[in-house]
Amino acid sequence: MTTFHASKFPVLVIGGTGKTGRRVAERLTALGVPVRIGSRNATPAFDWEKPETWTTALEGISAAYITYYPDLAVPGAAEAVGDLARLAVRKGVKRLVLLSGRGEPEAQRAEQMLQASGADWTIVRASWFMQNFSESMLLGPILAGEMALPVSSVREPFIHADDIADVVTASLTDDRHIGQLYEVTGPRMLTFAEAAGEIATATGRAIDYRTITPEEFIQGLEQEQVPADIAALVNELFTVVLDGRNEYVTDGVQKALGRKPRDFADYAREIAATGIWEDAK
Ligand SMILES: NC(=O)c1ccc[n+]([C@@H]2O[C@H](COP(=O)([O-])OP(=O)(O)OC[C@H]3O[C@@H](n4cnc5c(N)ncnc54)[C@H](OP(=O)(O)O)[C@@H]3O)[C@@H](O)[C@H]2O)c1
Repeated sequence: MTTFHASKFPVLVIGGTGKTGRRVAERLTALGVPVRIGSRNATPAFDWEKPETWTTALEGISAAYITYYPDLAVPGAAEAVGDLARLAVRKGVKRLVLLSGRGEPEAQRAEQMLQASGADWTIVRASWFMQNFSESMLLGPILAGEMALPVSSVREPFIHADDIADVVTASLTDDRHIGQLYEVTGPRMLTFAEAAGEIATATGRAIDYRTITPEEFIQGLEQEQVPADIAALVNELFTVVLDGRNEYVTDGVQKALGRKPRDFADYAREIAATGIWEDAK
């Protein structure tokens, strides 16, 4: 038996204009659940860097979806998540759902902080998003027809952001997900070269894949004027987290929703049909 909550009080969706937050906000709205976006550009503003903005953003909400920015792997992220969770609980907001990452010690520490906060928690620990190829840092290389990354044979079970959003939305609206840690991945592991190949097949465009050294990768990011701390973070995500530790598929989507996750080939066809991968030239 499931319990659907459609409180008149809004759900705070932190990062509500980002890759998973936007989708969660859309789903909640479709269910008739009011949403408050938590981001630097929202009103009231929520900024992870400015804890003084947190209290107002938490005022009068029924639950929160917590996504940390830029990444839970950043030093201090776990403390920030813990501080926010404890503040929320003190304000009577017990229902908290955290987006986490796999194989990142700092992310796993953030999970523990949430679990210790006294919240009615759910953790959605996700693999790499497929949408990194269409809404984030890998879109540029796809458009250029050339992807050069410091990762070779390691396979990743990329997950569709819609699947994450479905699990998060279910978690925010159904009490049976309280106390669950869902490790969610896609159904199939692919190397980055194979992922580029799937996109090439779906678009009919040639996309070359080349493995480069971490030094060459950082140099390239610096040439693109990516700030040094973000370049170091991105490099860490490719080299440390993609060292084989996450090379396995999980059944988190099936457990949470009773259905299979979406496959990369379906994602590639869906995005190819939108035209955003068309050659810009
Ligand atoms: N990408 C992946 O493959 C992946 C995989 C597993 C886990 N994760 C986790 O997912 C989380 C989000 O990563 P993402 O790359 O997908 O980002 P994202 O959700 O696309 O991030 C953008 C969102 O964050 C907001 N934002 C940016 N800076 C902020 C700040 N200082 N305070 C509050 N909100 C801020 C943005 O709105 P404004 O600009 O208006 O502030 C926007 O709503 C990270 O914690 C990461 O560890 C990512």
